[in-house]
This record gives sequence, structure tokens and C-alpha cells, in this order.
Amino acid sequence: MIFINNQIFLAVADSTDTLKNALTWSLNNVFAILALLISFLAMWAIWKVVNVLSNSQKEFLYTKHGIPLETIKKDTPSLFNFKGINDALWKLVPLEKEADIDLGHEYDGIRELDNRLPPWWLYIFYGTILFAAVYLYLYLFTDKGVRQEQEYEYAMEKGEEMKLAYLATQANAVDENSVVALTGAELAEGQSIFKASCAACHGQEGQGGVGPNLTDQYWIHGGGINNVFKTIKYGVPDKGMISWQSQLSPSAMQKVASYILTLEGTNPPGQKEKQGEIWTPESGAKL
Ligand code: HEC
Repeated sequence: MIFINNQIFLAVADSTDTLKNALTWSLNNVFAILALLISFLAMWAIWKVVNVLSNSQKEFLYTKHGIPLETIKKDTPSLFNFKGINDALWKLVPLEKEADIDLGHEYDGIRELDNRLPPWWLYIFYGTILFAAVYLYLYLFTDKGVRQEQEYEYAMEKGEEMKLAYLATQANAVDENSVVALTGAELAEGQSIFKASCAACHGQEGQGGVGPNLTDQYWIHGGGINNVFKTIKYGVPDKGMISWQSQLSPSAMQKVASYILTLEGTNPPGQKEKQGEIWTPESGAKL
């Protein structure tokens, strides 16, 4: 019971997600749901047809043997016993016996009857009593009930999570126009990406090899964070530099680009000869 209660509260707190999931599920399974409905309709139709056929058969036999036709109706079973269900739900005293329960109060032709309370109503009423007992116990004598402040805290936590998740996607959404050079610990991550993916062509120290020297001031495709990011993202496929956007996330490309910028002037041994032109922020964006 406690478990169910907590689940209900979590479900309420998560109701937007749950609703979204239910909607997504229904959308994804539209055909399954339709197929199910159609199968039900088809079964119902078959049931009807079988009844009609068997009734005409009965009619034929009854007439042949001189049995009155009205009995057919009583013999015919119905798929849903609506009247039976209705009677069970209400359990009212039948019309004919109403005189017995008449309390004798009449106003404008409306008479008060001492009728039974409908069982569906009674069970809901008993249910509320049970619910109240469990609720009071949970909230007054245990700490299992989720109180308003807890719900508030939970919602705040969830909001914080959503905010962080959103900020994370934003951080990951950098492109060549919005990218900025990183500093600090992220450069170390950039370095390890460089060693793993780029050093084979650009040298362990960025001194160059198959690919150009990344430690001098000369750039074929422009220096500065925006140009470097762009070259990494789109590559120069016909010159042997692949596009990395399918292998590195935007933030990974940002880190490695930032790391490359720190290499300028490190003057490692065995540098490849200069290629391209001197690039300074003033010399203009290549982008
Ligand atoms: C298979 C070899 C190879 C690998 C691996 C490689 N590059 Fe390159 N890269 C090149 C070549 C070749 C060029 C020169 C393209 C040209 O001539 O236009 C280049 C050019 C560049 C440039 C432009 C340099 C300039 O002067 O404008 C940058 C920046 C760069 N690479 C970064 C990277 C990074 C970052 C990685 C790793 C994620 C990487 N490269 C991996 C071969 C490679």
C-alpha cells in the first residue's frame, strides 16, 4: 500500500512525462490499436450474423412444429447482459414493489422512497473511508507520505536536472560561429583527444607530418578558434583531412581546437615547413 501510494505521488510528479509516454506509445501503435478495434468489431459482427442465421433456422423449425415464435427471443443469448449489469450496479427495488418502500412524503408528485443505495456508490464510499484511514496513517504516523514540501523539493530537483540537461545540450551545440576557446582542465581533455585522433598525422607535439604543422603562425585554412573548429568539423577531405563531426561531439571538437591553439609558438623539434599564410585575428576571418 505504501509502495503504491509513493508510486502514485511519483506518477503525479512525473505526470507530464507519463502522459507524453502514453501519447508516444499510442502514436507508435496506432495500427495495433486500430487492428484490435477492428478485430473486436469483426467478432461482434460474426456473433450477430451467427445469431441471425440460427434464429431463422429456429423460426423455420418452430413454425414446422407449431411452437409460438415469441419463445425464440427469450432463447437468444446476448453477448453483453446490459440489463443484468445495470441491475447489479443499482440493485433497486423493482417498480412493482415501490409501494412497499414509500415513506409517505410527497411534494409536487415527487415521492420519497426508502430505496437501496446503489452498490457502486456504496463501494466508492467505503473506498474513500479506507483511503482516508491509510492516508491518515501514512501522513500522521509515518514519514512515508510525500508532503507538500517534499513534493516541492522533488519538483525543484527535477527542474534542476532538466536545467542541467538543457545546459549540457547547449554546451554541446557549439558551432563554428559560436565556439569560444576553452581554458583550464578542458585543454587536458583536448590534448588527449589530439593524441588519440590527430597526432598520427599532425605529430605528437603538433609539429606536423602528413598534416600541416599546427605550432607555427601559418594556417592554410585560417587560425583562430572559429576557423580551426570549422576545419576540424568539415575537414578538407580531398587533401587528406577528414571531417570529424561524425566522430567527435561539438564540445570535443571545441576542446581539441582550443588545445591546438595553445600549441602556437611551442616550437617543438622536427617542425614541418610552413604552409599557408600568417594568421592574426586582425588579418581577417577566413570563415
Ligand atoms: C589522416 C591524417 C590526418 C588526421 C588523422 C588528422 N588530420 Fe588534420 N589535416 C590533415 C591534412 C593532410 C591537413 C591539410 C589539409 C589541406 O592541405 O588543406 C590537415 C589540416 C588540419 C588543420 C588545418 C591546418 C591549417 O593549416 O589550416 C587542422 C586545424 C587540423 N588538421 C586539425 C586536426 C585535428 C584536430 C585532428 C584530430 C581530431 C586531425 N586534424 C586529424 C591530416 C590529418
